Amino acid sequence: MEINSVYKTDCLLGFKNIDNESVDLIFTDPPYCQNRAQNITNLKNHKDVVTEFKFDGYSSEKEYLRFIEKVLRECYRVSKDGASGYLWCGDDFVSYINRIVEKAGFQFRKVIHWHKTNPFPAIHTRKIFANSMELIVHFSKGTPKTWNHKHVNEMHNFIETPICMGKERKKHQTQKPLKVCIPFIEISSNENDLILDPFMGSGTTAIAALMTNRNFIGFEIDNGYCEIIAERFEEFVLKHANFKGIKPQIKL
Ligand SMILES: C[S@@+](CC[C@H](N)C(=O)[O-])C[C@H]1O[C@@H](n2cnc3c(N)ncnc32)[C@H](O)[C@@H]1O
Repeated sequence: MEINSVYKTDCLLGFKNIDNESVDLIFTDPPYCQNRAQNITNLKNHKDVVTEFKFDGYSSEKEYLRFIEKVLRECYRVSKDGASGYLWCGDDFVSYINRIVEKAGFQFRKVIHWHKTNPFPAIHTRKIFANSMELIVHFSKGTPKTWNHKHVNEMHNFIETPICMGKERKKHQTQKPLKVCIPFIEISSNENDLILDPFMGSGTTAIAALMTNRNFIGFEIDNGYCEIIAERFEEFVLKHANFKGIKPQIKL
């Protein structure tokens, strides 16, 4: 596989081309297996309810968790001894995922909480709180080989930022802010290390790797999102002309 490339493929196929024990850090954000409300903007008064949902694509929660287990087993195989992993998830699946990382061979370390200071508002009629929190499960293959300790105030398992806005925001519903990803990448990897993200989405992990002088490889199954990644790479290269001669690529 060529480093600094995102391959347009199902990650379970892509993994077959990654050597055992070749990756320094897993940083990934798989699909959440959630019903996503579709007709929120049409709600006009307090009797209106959300009636249209689009499911993330798994026939059941069991199937989803089996898929996550397969991915984590592959992550374990390709990780170097002492590699860390960070996996985003929602509050509904976090306790299952903590156990699956251990089933796959990793050590579970901590759950990190991202508080979104500007979440989508709660829908009054559903009588639930706004989803202002996303979680990241941190795990490692044995004792972490890299731990670049920052100031004690930056070593909390809690981080607070707005959701992506302005120029950073791309057309991806679950895009994660660089500001949240970069500190964990800096703590758990060194310059020139190789970071793997099997679910690139809009390419946030790849951009974070470029910004911190790390290498990356990744997969994304959706054509439209691959186009967004290609645009982000172009923007990045334009902004940082002749960036160390590295040409991040999408492989279709
Ligand atoms: C939660 S999003 C990742 C968002 C990303 N962190 C960002 O900041 O843009 C998950 C992504 O995984 C992709 N995906 C889902 N199943 C996949 C598979 N089997 N192989 C590769 N990509 C997949 C989806 O198309 C989606 O873009």
